[in-house]
Formats: sequence, structure tokens, C-alpha cells
Amino acid sequence: MPSTAVIILAAGQGTRMKSDLPKVLHPVNGVAMVDQVLAVARDLQPARTVVVIGHQGERVRDHLAGADDLTLIDQTPQLGTGDAVRQCLPALEGFHGTVVVLSGDVPLIQANELGRLVATHHERHTVVTLFTAVVDTPGGLGRVVRDDTGRFLRIVEAKDAQPHELAIHEINAGIYCFDADLLRRCLPKVTRDNAQGEFYLPDVVAMAVAERHLVEALPYTEPSEVLGVNSRLDLAHASAHARRRVNEALMASGVTLVDPATTYVESGVQVGRDTVLHPGVYLRGATRIGAGCEIGPYSSYVDAVVGDGVRDRGYSHVEGCTIAAEVLVGPFSRLRPGAEIATGAHIGNFVEVKKSRIGAGSKVNHLSYIGDTEMGARVNVGAGTITCNYDGANKHKTVIGDDVFIGSDTQLVAPVTVGDGALIGAGTTVTQDVPAGALTLTRAPQENRPGAGKKYLDRARQIAAEKKQKKQE
Ligand code: UD1
Ligand code: CA
Repeated sequence: MPSTAVIILAAGQGTRMKSDLPKVLHPVNGVAMVDQVLAVARDLQPARTVVVIGHQGERVRDHLAGADDLTLIDQTPQLGTGDAVRQCLPALEGFHGTVVVLSGDVPLIQANELGRLVATHHERHTVVTLFTAVVDTPGGLGRVVRDDTGRFLRIVEAKDAQPHELAIHEINAGIYCFDADLLRRCLPKVTRDNAQGEFYLPDVVAMAVAERHLVEALPYTEPSEVLGVNSRLDLAHASAHARRRVNEALMASGVTLVDPATTYVESGVQVGRDTVLHPGVYLRGATRIGAGCEIGPYSSYVDAVVGDGVRDRGYSHVEGCTIAAEVLVGPFSRLRPGAEIATGAHIGNFVEVKKSRIGAGSKVNHLSYIGDTEMGARVNVGAGTITCNYDGANKHKTVIGDDVFIGSDTQLVAPVTVGDGALIGAGTTVTQDVPAGALTLTRAPQENRPGAGKKYLDRARQIAAEKKQKKQE
């Protein structure tokens, strides 16, 4: 198969987004548009990939800095799609295969469809093969003009079109395969002689037809997938489409979505088989959920790695942490970056864990804050236990051994270490290290004064009643 090179056009301004963020960096279902297009491009295993940047190019450049398989071309000023591709020709020097042109703002294009375009281009030995879409409202898009027999003739931009051409519903999707040498031959001949004063890439297609070369215009199977994102409304539509696609793929792979309409799974997320996602679940970023898990209603996970058989009872917020198999989470747990929850541990309601390791089988079930802590296995942490990790200037570490029992309402003032098997009595403020096996208590002695409670309360209630009566008078 002949080799391919990819050009991604991403220099345009995106005025209608009304944004300080470059258009192609806006996420569609969690992934920046340009990254989605790049992923589809990489599927072709191209010999070279060129991205044309321009408007707010530095930010796009920074965003793409990690990718070393790309050549970035700065197109300033932006004089049209024809100019954009022409600026790429030096980067394609010596390349004579197929140049695939994609738009950075058409994020929903599918790899298999693009593969079909390239395969058609190669099988039919055409010099240009492009995608079209039949749409209800063609608006400002380029119209595809065909002859009586349906053969492709040319593309006319809406602003240059005659009324009978504007009535055409088949539009140019802006996704093409070009023979590299055709681009070299024709791009220098493209002029700005049109309504917008721009260099139009589609003029190359007209030139190929004029040279009596074969040009193929293929309707894209699902038109909504090749409509560009130009506004926030388009962005929302594209995200909804991408989300639906992700949800359908999850269900096809054996994940139960109790209500797909209210389940939000970003495009980069993985979920294992037989996992159940309840309504309102929001899985984001690089989150990976294992098999046989149950994620309860309204829990959100960001960049979290979750093992098999985990049960989240809902309303939890989990970010940047690792949860091993068979862990119980929630309801209402907050797991912050750097939390590592080992196998079978329980993190209960209103428990916050930050930058801490919770050992296997340990239980922190109610109303606790655990920060900067190394906790061993089988520890029982009573309700209301707090690690006092911050002294106003520095964070300090708490180390808790295995099989420790911590009574309710304990404060562990870090830095502090609790040895294996220690028992800490309820209400203790631990300020010194606790040796293994010790019983530790800090508690003021209790005093019982017989009858004094009743006496006090009777008097208080009497005063309250008198006050109430005075008010009514
Ligand atoms: C273009 C096509 C039109 C097609 C439509 C599909 C032309 C002249 N027209 O419309 O037939 O129906 O796409 O969406 O090509 N860009 C640059 N540099 C530029 C101009 C644009 O990189 O100088 C990029 C944009 O960032 C965008 C893509 O090219 O990613 C398409 O540009 P856009 O302005 O959205 O499309 P039109 O020119 O209006
Ligand atoms: Ca334009």
C-alpha cells in the first residue's frame, strides 16, 4: 500500500467560539479536539504528520509539545485552506504518496471511515478522494456540484455560490486524500480571486478535474461525524455524540449502564467487563475502572486507577489515586491525589484521604481526615479520627503500623508513628510516638455529681418558659 502523510489544519481563529482558548484545544467529551484528530491520523500510521498552527499557535504548540512524531508549521497570516496546505509542502519534500488532509475542528471523524477514504483513493488510483456529507442545513459550507450522471465536478463555497448551487445539500466535509505531486503542481496556481479573498484548497480539486484526472467524492456514512465545531453549541452537540458513542462501546464490551443518558464517560477512560455504572457517574481523564465493579450514583472519578470488584456506594469524588481490588468506597468519600487504597480496605462516608497509603483490609469508615499517612494492614480507624498533618508551615507524616485500633475522635499530631498492634483510646490526642502493642490514652478524669444535671436543666427550662410567656403577653 502506498505510504501516507497527514496534514491537520488548525490555524484558523474560531471566532464564533468566543474563547481565549484556541478552538482545537477545546475538549469534546474530555479530549481536546486536535488530540482526537491526531489519534485518528495515527491510526493510518503515516510516514509524516504535519500540523498547521497559527492563531494562538504558541498555546497549540505547547499542548502538542510532548508529541515527537509531528512537524508544526506556523501559518501567519491565515490566508485560507489552500495557503495552509501550501505552507506544508516544504515539510513534505521527497514524499510522493498520498497526503491526507484533516481539520483540527472535525473531532468525531472515525478511523475506520478515514481508512475507507484512503483505501478507495488507492484502489481507484484517483488523484483526489474527498468526503462529502448530505445535510439538512448546509449553511456556509462548500457545496458539491455534480453533473447529470452524478459525477463530481467541483466544490463551490457558499459565499461564491449561485442560488441553485446554494440549494445543494451535499457539502464538502473538508477531509481529503491528495496525490502529493498534484498538490505540488496545483497549489502554486491557486489564486485569491473569490468572494473571501482566500486561497481555497478545493480549487486544487477543480484543477484535477480540469486536468481530466479521476476525482472521487464519497459520502460519509454518518454526516454528523464530519461537521466541524464552530460554536459552543456545536461543541455540546459533538460532546453528546462522542459520549453516546463511548457509552454504546462500553455496553457492547459488557459494561452495564443503568441509565446511559445520564452516564458521562470521557473518551480516554477504560471500564472492565461486568462493571455497573449508576446514573450520574462521571468518569474522566485517564481513569481506568476494573472488572466487576459497581460505581454508585453521582460519583466522579478523575485520573483514577481502580482494581476489580470495587464497590462505590455513590456520591464520591475520587481524583488521581489508586484503588486496589475489592475496596469499598463511599457514600460521600473524597479520595484526593496520591491516595493509595490497598486490597479490601473500606473508605466510608465523609472520609477524606490525601497522599496516603491505606493498607489491605484497613477500615476508615466515618468522618475522618487522613493526610500524608502510611497506614498498615487491618487497621481500624474510629469515627472522627483526624491526622493533624499541617502545622501552618509544613506538612508532616503519620505512620501507623499493622493491626492498630484507633478509638473514635482521635487526633494524630504529625510527625508521629504508631507501632503495630497498638490500641489508642477514644478521644486521644497523640503527640508522641506510640510503641507497638501499647495502650495510649490522653483523657481528663471523669467526675459525676449526683443530681446536679437534673437540677441545672430544671432551672434552665423554667427560665425558658418564663421568657416565652413574657413574649406572648
Ligand atoms: C472549508 C471548505 C469548505 C468545507 C468546509 C468544511 C475551503 C475554502 N472551504 O470551509 O468547502 O465545506 O471547510 O468544514 O477550504 N484553516 C487554516 N488556515 C487557514 C484557514 C483555515 O489552518 O488559513 C483551518 C481551520 O483552522 C479549520 C480548517 O482549516 O480547521 C477549515 O477552515 P474553516 O475556515 O473552518 O473552513 P472554511 O474555509 O469555511
Ligand atoms: Ca474560512
